[in-house]
Amino acid sequence: MGKDEVKIERTLVILKPDAIQRGIVGEILSRFEKRGFKIIGLKMMQVSRELAEKHYLEHQGKPFYDELVEFITAGPVVVFVVEGNNAISNVRKMVGATNPEEAAPGTIRHDYGLHIGKNIIHASDSRESAEREIDLFFNIDELVDYKRIDEDWIY
Ligand code: RTP
Ligand code: MG
Repeated sequence: MGKDEVKIERTLVILKPDAIQRGIVGEILSRFEKRGFKIIGLKMMQVSRELAEKHYLEHQGKPFYDELVEFITAGPVVVFVVEGNNAISNVRKMVGATNPEEAAPGTIRHDYGLHIGKNIIHASDSRESAEREIDLFFNIDELVDYKRIDEDWIY
């Protein structure tokens, strides 16, 4: 693949409250770093009910909605913006199927989870969601622009 075929995208990842409580934040973050993705924004925060409702707008009215909002607000989360080649689809592949019981071995949800209600991680599912969610969770001045020293060996 020539460098001209690289499509750099940004996507939003949330390590949900179960990931923080279980002490697996470092390991999961490390997977993204090692793959060559660049972390361009990162913070721990408590998600408010208001932010949770905005983030999960598309799920309002579904049977699991209340549980979902309870869960994402149940403790601190770690949220970060990942940048790299086809980041939106490539990160979704690393995350795996929504239900950890159905996620492929090697995906984060499979390797760390056993139940759909506690599935460790969120990642934006399209270009539109990525833009909306990055905007929802980060101020523009919280994102940094830099070159990774190994970039020329990744692309
Ligand atoms: P996410 O938004 O968290 O990255 O997950 P996803 O795209 O794979 O799945 P989505 O359909 O957007 O669902 C959002 C979250 O809702 C919970 N869920 N529970 N009990 C259920 O049937 C059910 N379905 C979805 C999961 O926590 C899922 O991540
Ligand atoms: Mg989703």
